[in-house]
Amino acid sequence: MADRVCPFWVGYLLLNPLRKLLENPGKILGQFVREGMIVLEPGCGMGFFTLPLARMVGPLGKVIAVEVQAKMLSALERRAQKANLLDRIELRQVGAEGLGVEDFFGQVDFAVAIHMVHEVPEQAIFFTEVFKALKSGGKLLVIEPKGHVSESQFEQTLATAENAGFRQEPLPGKVGGRSGFLVKP
Ligand SMILES: C[S@@+](CC[C@H](N)C(=O)[O-])C[C@H]1O[C@@H](n2cnc3c(N)ncnc32)[C@H](O)[C@@H]1O
Repeated sequence: MADRVCPFWVGYLLLNPLRKLLENPGKILGQFVREGMIVLEPGCGMGFFTLPLARMVGPLGKVIAVEVQAKMLSALERRAQKANLLDRIELRQVGAEGLGVEDFFGQVDFAVAIHMVHEVPEQAIFFTEVFKALKSGGKLLVIEPKGHVSESQFEQTLATAENAGFRQEPLPGKVGGRSGFLVKP
């Protein structure tokens, strides 16, 4: 697995403010996230999307930020502390298998996996865990990078998600990359 995850220093590159020109967290996620929601973000990296998510869920909401790399999480922790958002973010370090969110099963409103699913060795386990974490009617947004993931690989990923119980729905708005919008019926 280790050779599949992006090196931690790439996490700093992913925080480049210019990234917002191509991937604006407000535009991508604002259409799905409301105040008070519980949001699950596996593969959060250093939190390019996590801090905006924490602002969107507000003081009564929560973002569960799950990572395999401790260095990503410690950078995210520092950034969240500085932004005074740490109390809305639950940081979790996990192994490659499973998400370690059993205590949130059936409680998550929205999950978002951005540029990370292609790094997961066992996608069937991954989607099953996200499925269990979501409430009935909860949604999962998956975005993968076109440069790393071919169309046919992405179709396979979506088929794996459907096998875990998800149903595909059309995306309400543009989000870029190779994207899929999945619902827990
Ligand atoms: C390319 S980075 C994207 C980070 C972030 N989503 C972003 O767009 O800025 C992928 C991240 O997913 C993490 N990752 C890979 N496999 C994972 C897994 N099985 N569970 C949780 N995180 C994982 C990596 O450590 C890395 O930080």
